[in-house]
Amino acid sequence: MSTTLIEQPRDLYSSPYLVDYYDLVAPNSRSVNDASFYWGVYQKLLSIRPPSSDDPFVVMDVGTGTGRVIHDLASNAISSGADFHNVEIIGVDNAQHMLDKAQEITTGIFKDCGSWVHGSALSLSDVMEPRQHQKVDLLIFSIGSISHLSEAGQPECFLEEVSKVLRPRTGRAYVSIYDGSLLNPDEKIAFHQPPGVTEIQSTTYPSVVYRESNHRGDLDGNVKFVKFELEVVNIENQSVLEKNEISMKMRQWMKDEIVDLASKTELDFVDSIKGAHETFYVFSITADAESRQ
Ligand SMILES: C[S@@+](CC[C@H](N)C(=O)[O-])C[C@H]1O[C@@H](n2cnc3c(N)ncnc32)[C@H](O)[C@@H]1O
Repeated sequence: MSTTLIEQPRDLYSSPYLVDYYDLVAPNSRSVNDASFYWGVYQKLLSIRPPSSDDPFVVMDVGTGTGRVIHDLASNAISSGADFHNVEIIGVDNAQHMLDKAQEITTGIFKDCGSWVHGSALSLSDVMEPRQHQKVDLLIFSIGSISHLSEAGQPECFLEEVSKVLRPRTGRAYVSIYDGSLLNPDEKIAFHQPPGVTEIQSTTYPSVVYRESNHRGDLDGNVKFVKFELEVVNIENQSVLEKNEISMKMRQWMKDEIVDLASKTELDFVDSIKGAHETFYVFSITADAESRQ
């Protein structure tokens, strides 16, 4: 097997090995415990707007990754005996390898009502435009993924897009800001720096381990740079299958800053709910935006 040497810095979502590594190390439903929260929200909104076959209840999970939040919704529905009758579920992500894995692990009832769509958080109206049912009842941007929108103006652009796709009156967007991404002027920001080289066994590829090393971090204004090297190694012959220079830019936040940003868009701030590791900010569309729709 030959080595794929990646010259360009990459995020954690841009090859099948990286997706596998991401799923091993990323926060999961046990560690972040947001599954029961979103399940409760889903049931509440569904009871407020009972759907019909002409006008289904539409859930959009932005930055869905390998579909963790959606798969959790589906398992909650199964274990409580609910079905996804008159419900449409859309997982949107701009990383095709993440969507490929999401698709691969999709089973059961979700196959009939769900779709994995390649698209950007910055152009949600383009995602909805070709669809038959274009208004979203429940929009989720989970576990602080909005921090990926680290360029100036991107969070505002995302919020504008949310206001274009959300259903008037009853539609709600739940945007999570992770506690670890809060800027505290009194504290030095923490960077995860495991000592030396850390090795993690793949559960998908039996002879593969991931070796991460040279963790570095930096803060420039409100952007945190996270960098490390990640080798994909065949343990049988120690050959390096892929060598990645990981580099991620993550926006950091002042407390409740997103509420200020949203106030300059056509979104109304409805509520903020403190979770174990994050705050969920809830938005609806303004009456002005509604009257134009
Ligand atoms: C931290 S992961 C979260 C995955 C999943 N939602 C979860 O909760 O486990 C962030 C995801 O956001 C996606 N992402 C980053 N920027 C994006 C953008 N501009 N548009 C759509 N997806 C984006 C990444 O590709 C990645 O899959």
